[in-house]
Amino acid sequence: MPHLALHGGPAVRTTPFPSWPIYTETDAKAVGEAVLSGKWGCMSGERVSAFANRFADMQHASHGVCVTNGTTALVLALQAVGVGPGDEVIVPAYTFIATANAVLMCNGIPVYVDIDPETYNLDPALVEQAITPRTKALMPVHFAGLPADMEKLLAIARKHGLALVEDCAQAHGAQWNRRGVGPIGDIGGFSFQSSKNLNAGEGGIILTNDDKLGKLADSLANCGRSDDGVWYGHYRLAGNHRMTELQGALLMTQMERFEEQTNRRHENGEYLTEHLRKIDGIRPCITPAYVSRHARHLYVFRYRSEAFGGASKTRFVEALRAEGIPASPGYSIPLYKQPVFMLKNFGSFASELHRDYDFGALYLPETERACNDEAVWFTQSVLLGEKSDMDDIVRAVAKIRERRQELAER
Ligand SMILES: Cc1ncc(COP(=O)(O)O)c(C=O)c1O
Repeated sequence: MPHLALHGGPAVRTTPFPSWPIYTETDAKAVGEAVLSGKWGCMSGERVSAFANRFADMQHASHGVCVTNGTTALVLALQAVGVGPGDEVIVPAYTFIATANAVLMCNGIPVYVDIDPETYNLDPALVEQAITPRTKALMPVHFAGLPADMEKLLAIARKHGLALVEDCAQAHGAQWNRRGVGPIGDIGGFSFQSSKNLNAGEGGIILTNDDKLGKLADSLANCGRSDDGVWYGHYRLAGNHRMTELQGALLMTQMERFEEQTNRRHENGEYLTEHLRKIDGIRPCITPAYVSRHARHLYVFRYRSEAFGGASKTRFVEALRAEGIPASPGYSIPLYKQPVFMLKNFGSFASELHRDYDFGALYLPETERACNDEAVWFTQSVLLGEKSDMDDIVRAVAKIRERRQELAER
């Protein structure tokens, strides 16, 4: 076998993987039509509401409220279930910053709980010990598009009278026990930011099956108005978080490709797992039986350095990239180690209540291990390739494993 590309050998692959977003003239036409309709805002047009209904149907929700982005969707979802000053919300520490920021932006406090090392989702076995009299809600993340263990989380939420808010920013189309994620708990929020499997540049949606929460979320997204249709009637403090019709148009056309893309990601994800798991030192994250559909926003596997001559994850990712495989080391530090938490740099959201919380003293072993040593990701567009593209990934990993002694050399 030739040398690693890191050491001047030929790369396994020199052609790029599919890029994202995928678009055609149809998207441009739909946005153009929205422009030419003269109805650019969702209060006068029909595109955003049509998309909200379609997406809500797909996820088995009775209410869908489109908003400006996923962070806002989570903030409003948390506000709708009543999270306010001093309320604790249990979140994983292996997630994007917005999960925790949304809690702080409601004047609440994110309480970090470790992940299950097999799935990288919030570990239900550790949740109860983190509950205090201040706990108001649980907010699991369906990380990478893999539904969290909702049966156990719902049972804990019910037992302790807590709200359950789903962070579905990475989980478009994901299903738990044949139910779409988002409205399984009380309420959930999705993101349509550029990297997401459904993308409008920016955007988000709140889903729920609870009529009261649905109306409240709608009001919170729309300046505190009610559903009585009165323009100058404002019933609660709320901003304008509405989505534009241009985004609505783009989301509608993307929906036409969504099922086919989701199926392709699924098939390629399964194929990769079948082959990568055979390589010593590589363990793809598992898909538990309660997962009826994995959204595969990311393909995630665990790297064991001992099987690769002790080389660090960083070095392994470097080697994969040199072979032409766009691997990512993922979240590089646990969320609680971000400067914003270490310094409690919460701006106008800073409060006396934060005095009791020392984020810098936290150490969640599985999250640390995922960040520092184990987790390797491919983004979703890599899974939109052909089987031969997946074979290249497998060949590159196998090559690095075989020539592992070279990883140590500089
Ligand atoms: C887990 C998670 N939560 C929340 C968000 C926030 O979404 P947005 O970037 O649309 O605000 C993202 C992604 O960006 C995310 O990955």
